[in-house]
Amino acid sequence: HNYVAILAGGLGTRFWPKSRASFPKQFLDILGTGETLIQSAYNRYASFIKPENIYIITSDEYVDIVKEQLPQLNPENILAEPSRKNTAPCVAYIASKLLQEDPEASLIVAPSDHLVIDVNVFKKLSLQALKFAKNNNALVTLGIKPTYPNTGYGYIQYDLGTVQDENVYEVKTFTEKPDIELAQTFLASGDFLWNAGIFIWTAKDVLAAFEQFQPEMYELFATEKENFNTPEEKNALQRIYPLCVSISIDYAIMEKAENVYVIPADFGWSDLGTWNSAYTNLEKDKKGNAITGEHVIAFDVQNTMISSEENKLLVLQGLEDFIVVDTKDVLLICKKEKEQQVKEFLAEVKKKK
Ligand code: GDD
Ligand code: MG
Repeated sequence: HNYVAILAGGLGTRFWPKSRASFPKQFLDILGTGETLIQSAYNRYASFIKPENIYIITSDEYVDIVKEQLPQLNPENILAEPSRKNTAPCVAYIASKLLQEDPEASLIVAPSDHLVIDVNVFKKLSLQALKFAKNNNALVTLGIKPTYPNTGYGYIQYDLGTVQDENVYEVKTFTEKPDIELAQTFLASGDFLWNAGIFIWTAKDVLAAFEQFQPEMYELFATEKENFNTPEEKNALQRIYPLCVSISIDYAIMEKAENVYVIPADFGWSDLGTWNSAYTNLEKDKKGNAITGEHVIAFDVQNTMISSEENKLLVLQGLEDFIVVDTKDVLLICKKEKEQQVKEFLAEVKKKK
């Protein structure tokens, strides 16, 4: 059977100050669509995965937010991690849990905070990937045509000569978050795609990869596997998590595995990683401003991302290429080109507290 695990335990720090550790970006309606990002993600999968096979994996502290935002989801499908250990343990957990009940489980591992525009194309490729993964013991990724040397993504080198299924290629190398020089080289070479952060495989195959490349983590989950899907599951996690290293699936498995494949995908994708990417995906007014919120008056303001606070008037004059984010307790005004510094601002704020 087909399952999806939507990962929703990240902090979304680059969307500060709208995104807070207590309420991160996956639970916000960043684009003003009327749905939060996790609600959109859920709906995207609900069109082709049975609701009882949709799981959300998140931190203990976000479980109540998930319940509130996805009331249609059976609370048993919300899996709470006792601590934040990045995405590799999430995958080992869900794969071990599913395999206990369904030896044939095929799984999509998906982020909770991305934008996908063409849901029909997305659905078609996902179903193809599920089938291909199952028939070929493959770890399947979706690849996006890169447009600039972003250093926050994984880069997938593929070989057009190795077509397997329609539009499915062997992956030569997978490089997570290269430095800027390497990213530039990758982009110039033309045989790299961005990793969309969506993975498709069977529970059995991905656990085999853990056994090979992360034997310690594999052991931790294997030892407790009989406790999954029993009342003892929570305690098992309490024993496993403190011993788990914190590592992403990209470094833990994808950079190392051999049976990796990619489907070049074109469904209108953005990882909505930063305010600039929100700006890019929002509708702009005549002056090129993207404005979310009702109460903004702007004079002589251009090409600016403006996110205003409910019930609070924001009046601006004379800004060009800025990011302005107002919240109840923090106002951020930052040059668009300096948005990567948001993490530094936040570190400074934490020091002051
Ligand atoms: N449950 C849980 N626990 N979820 C987590 C955790 C955790 O400890 N850490 C992160 N997540 C969730 C995030 O909320 C997000 O939905 C997803 O896992 C991916 O994590 P990110 O932290 O956003 O990863 P990234 O953006 O740095 O990199 C990944 O995505 C890129 C595309 O957006 C990688 O897969 C890259 O290779 C890829 O290009
Ligand atoms: Mg991300």
